[in-house]
Amino acid sequence: MKTSNYTLKLISPEESYKVRHPVLRPGRPFETCIFDGDTLESTFHFGVFLNNELLGICSFFKNNHKNLDYNTQYQLRGMAILNYQQGKGLGKLVLNFAENHIKSLGIKIVWCNAREVATKFYVKNDYSIFGEPFNIEGIGTHYAMFKVLN
Ligand SMILES: CC(C)(COP(=O)(O)OP(=O)(O)OC[C@H]1O[C@@H](n2cnc3c(N)ncnc32)[C@H](O)[C@@H]1OP(=O)(O)O)[C@@H](O)C(=O)NCCC(=O)NCCS
Repeated sequence: MKTSNYTLKLISPEESYKVRHPVLRPGRPFETCIFDGDTLESTFHFGVFLNNELLGICSFFKNNHKNLDYNTQYQLRGMAILNYQQGKGLGKLVLNFAENHIKSLGIKIVWCNAREVATKFYVKNDYSIFGEPFNIEGIGTHYAMFKVLN
């Protein structure tokens, strides 16, 4: 799909690592950006491109949260935009594209473990916090957030 000059599409796990590693695991071993389930058929990776350059990514994993009472849910992970491209609406663009794809599969509920600094971004994209904040070793405070795909 083309939105103005940006192209949005499904990408491979390997492509997503090109943004995941520098943005989400900077200075850490490359393997730390590989997530369990990345290569499952039920997992989807999405990218936003400008002139064939990948600028931002997100991934959705089929995974139910223990505190959410819905049949099939997807978990958003690896939401990242290259540092110099942040704050220009690209996060919203790739996230909306990904959510529409997940919704087209008949999925109604998506959730994520959001870094504290990113909660405002998710609230702006209609996610709500549930439960108590918690710590992820080496990364910091996180909030569980969910969204009903209408
Ligand atoms: C969080 C992130 C994915 C948002 O993507 P983005 O393209 O920068 O965001 P958008 O331009 O679509 O939306 C901007 C809003 O996001 C929020 N935001 C959160 N972190 C931000 C950041 N580092 N830079 C800019 N905006 C950020 C702000 O509320 C901003 O709205 P405002 O300008 O009115 O304050 C991106 O900034 C990023 O990759 N950050 C570093 C990695 C990260 O924290 N990922 C989330 C892990 S849970």
